[in-house]
Amino acid sequence: MGERVTVGVLVSGRGSNLQSIIDAVEEGRLDARVTVVLSDREDAFGLERAKKHGIAAAWVDPSPCGSREEYDRALVVRLREADVELVVLAGFMRILGPPFVKSFKNRIMNIHPALLPSFPGLHVQAKALEHGARFSGCTVHFVDAGVDTGPIIIQACVPVLDGDTEESLSERILRQEHRIYPRAIQLYAEGRIKIKGRRVFVERSGDENDRASLINPPLGR
Ligand code: GAR
Repeated sequence: MGERVTVGVLVSGRGSNLQSIIDAVEEGRLDARVTVVLSDREDAFGLERAKKHGIAAAWVDPSPCGSREEYDRALVVRLREADVELVVLAGFMRILGPPFVKSFKNRIMNIHPALLPSFPGLHVQAKALEHGARFSGCTVHFVDAGVDTGPIIIQACVPVLDGDTEESLSERILRQEHRIYPRAIQLYAEGRIKIKGRRVFVERSGDENDRASLINPPLGR
């Protein structure tokens, strides 16, 4: 059993990834305690989800802040007040600047709905479709000073199907997001994650997956 890591979650909207983390904690699959949920948007549904589960939740209004740095500092203060060790970005649609990243060095995770380093940025499910990719998926990575560039912790791959729309592909990817994000946080809680340069090593994961592959369309049909 790992330690109960204290987690602060940043959301901008719906908060379904936040919900998957709360559910994993409540079901005993994740040794974490979500101590605060913050949002840059007053109407983010993620704030309601947090409150429903008795988690402190607050809108941190960006408008009175004169600069990104000032806003980042406001977030850092709120996260420290809540004794947060690990910052989890769950659909947080704002870029965090270098001072924020330094304040929580190697202690910020993000989830992205594509197989990085392909398709960083926004509207990436539509971009994967337009490009004709046979696979897409999702990535949990540590946040560094770039956009969607930090060391990759875990990825899940899904096929792109002929009948897919942006919505159907997004939905297939989201189902995997809800599986891998709690898992990444649990690996962190268990102290099993080591970062060496760009690579993340997970202790005791072994090479049991060395023959795993996904092929789309499938062979032999
Ligand atoms: C998720 O698909 C997440 O991967 C994506 O926003 C969605 C948030 O959904 N994040 C990004 O695109 C970050 N660049 P949620 O609010 O239901 O968790």
